[in-house]
Amino acid sequence: MKYLLSLLILSAAALGPMRVAQAQDAKEGEKKVAMCIGCHGIAGYQASFPEIHKVPMISGQNAKYIVNSLVAYKKGERKHPTMRAIAASLSDKDMADIAAFYEQHGKEAGVTVPATPPAPPAQVAELLKKGNCASCHGENMNKPIDPGYPKLAGQHADYLFVALKAYQIDNNPQVGRSNAIMVGMARPFTRAELKLMADYIGSLPGDLKTVPESRFRSASR
Ligand code: HEC
Ligand code: HEC
Repeated sequence: MKYLLSLLILSAAALGPMRVAQAQDAKEGEKKVAMCIGCHGIAGYQASFPEIHKVPMISGQNAKYIVNSLVAYKKGERKHPTMRAIAASLSDKDMADIAAFYEQHGKEAGVTVPATPPAPPAQVAELLKKGNCASCHGENMNKPIDPGYPKLAGQHADYLFVALKAYQIDNNPQVGRSNAIMVGMARPFTRAELKLMADYIGSLPGDLKTVPESRFRSASR
């Protein structure tokens, strides 16, 4: 009987390690996000650095991308000082747990994203075509081709603009991002062009959201 039981446990582990691990990670993650809620859990919360802009929405974002971005802050590839300090305090396991939590956070709110988003104005359509943005960020900028890439649709436009500009900045100790792919993508554009794309992408319906703490509390009960 004991043997049978351990066999069962073994085969269950072999069959569904990812699913089990993810559900467990998300549960663990829920205990670790207290320090994030003060900024990422308040709708419309503004950061003042490097300029005033809304803190990015991370609920509903891809877990693998969340981990990638936290690693980038930890390594200094993304220079934002507050997020660097926060990421430095997280272990690999913390990051995986927190990312699993945020990926499913707010999913029950069940917003269906329409298949056909509002068409971009002609000028924006041309810019997006020139940058081939949808080839990686996917259909409607909400279905990236790799889970390590971000969903962008509906993200705060002012944050998207700050992020895009950051890929154009080097040699600044406090501002900048060095991700090779996006540096190559952002450099050819003027700031005005980046702003036009950010405004359009931010207006698209998508999965990203801010889930305020009160909802978070009742949902976890
Ligand atoms: C003091 C406010 C603050 C706190 C606390 C905070 N963040 Fe952030 N977070 C920000 C800001 C501002 C940015 C945008 C930084 C930038 O421009 O790169 C950001 C960016 C991020 C990003 C990248 C989002 C993207 O779309 O690329 C992730 C992921 C993230 N934070 C996760 C967390 C987690 C997890 C915690 C808690 C462990 C946390 N943050 C705590 C303010 C905060
Ligand atoms: C070859 C694939 C690829 C293409 C093409 C691409 N991106 Fe990206 N994008 C990425 C990756 C990978 C990241 C994550 C980079 C990082 O970790 O900083 C990213 C990040 C971003 C971010 C930051 C998101 C956040 O939450 O911080 C924005 C904004 C963005 N891309 C916009 C665009 C736009 C606009 C275009 C077209 C001009 C574009 N991308 C084209 C792969 C791509």
